Amino acid sequence: GKGGYDHFMLKEIHEQPTSLSQAIEGRIDPADGHLSLDGFEPDTFESVEDVQLVACGTSYHAALYGSLALNRAGVPATALLANEYSVTSPPVSEDTLVIAVSQSGETADTLNALRQADERGADTLTVTNVVGSTAARVADDSLFIRAGPEIGVAATKTFSSQAVMVTLLAQRIADDARGDPPADLESLLPDLSRMPDEIDTLLETSDADAIAREYIDSQAYFFIGRGLGFPVALEGALKFKEITYEHAEGFASGELKHGPLALVTPETPVFAIFTGEEDEKTLKNAEETQTRGAPVIAICPDDHRAVEVADDHLEIPETDSNLAGLHANVQLQLVSYYAADLLGRPIDKPRNLAKSVTVE
Ligand code: M6R
Repeated sequence: GKGGYDHFMLKEIHEQPTSLSQAIEGRIDPADGHLSLDGFEPDTFESVEDVQLVACGTSYHAALYGSLALNRAGVPATALLANEYSVTSPPVSEDTLVIAVSQSGETADTLNALRQADERGADTLTVTNVVGSTAARVADDSLFIRAGPEIGVAATKTFSSQAVMVTLLAQRIADDARGDPPADLESLLPDLSRMPDEIDTLLETSDADAIAREYIDSQAYFFIGRGLGFPVALEGALKFKEITYEHAEGFASGELKHGPLALVTPETPVFAIFTGEEDEKTLKNAEETQTRGAPVIAICPDDHRAVEVADDHLEIPETDSNLAGLHANVQLQLVSYYAADLLGRPIDKPRNLAKSVTVE
């Protein structure tokens, strides 16, 4: 059942402290920075030269998140839409690792990309929620996110867990392939251990319902972010359009001035995600939308400079920049949920969409 919540989506949003704890349980040791990923022996990824992540929809945003983490850890990586993989046909070698990110493990587009990578001689791995799924059977190896069943068509808790898993995996691949654990790990692991409790607090104190109410009559909704904030901006917009049926777009903050700024008016609120990656630039980009009359909602810690500039604020804790975007994403999940609820949308089963897309 819905456990007292009006919708599965809201229940699943609130399950994130638990699902995240399950994702990291036994896999990290903040004391010595050791990452133990299930059955992966030490040096499993020793020969990895480059990584391609393939996925669709929300899982693609997690894949993009992972590709950034890998590149920063010194491992060349790209995220590709699985449905474009056969036409893009990026070169692979036997030292290429192809990672399929899929909640269900049954998405036809993603399975096709996985099979193609396998036929071309790459090593394959899937990050999935479903033990015994087709992806888990097709891939050479699997890493399970342990999020528990997700009923709402809109992916919420599984996105958070996928993003955490690919972040950890990136560190592990870099460690094995390059022989030195990325410096990031020292600040990442303690913050990751705190994340479930912090998300719990965020859920209890969020102003997302008030924000949704304030901006419900807008013409369009824009989401901007930089670095790891970019996939979160894309995800914020996808969730918003999927369940509210309103026009929403996500942009890299720096791209606004290259075209999208023409869309900005007083009727288009801009949600600006601050992850601690060149925040002053993102703030400048947000201010450029304010100059055109757009209200700006800053998603950042309480003492951040953006709070003074912005029209509204959704709070996230002070945390490692590898994780800040995932806290912001939970705020955005809530904004989408409350906006859809105010508009009387069905939420758990949006029109025209299926939980698992098993056709090409
Ligand atoms: O099961 P998968 O993760 O492979 O599904 C991929 C997409 O269909 C899925 O993430 C979709 O975009 C979400 N339902 C959006 O909330």
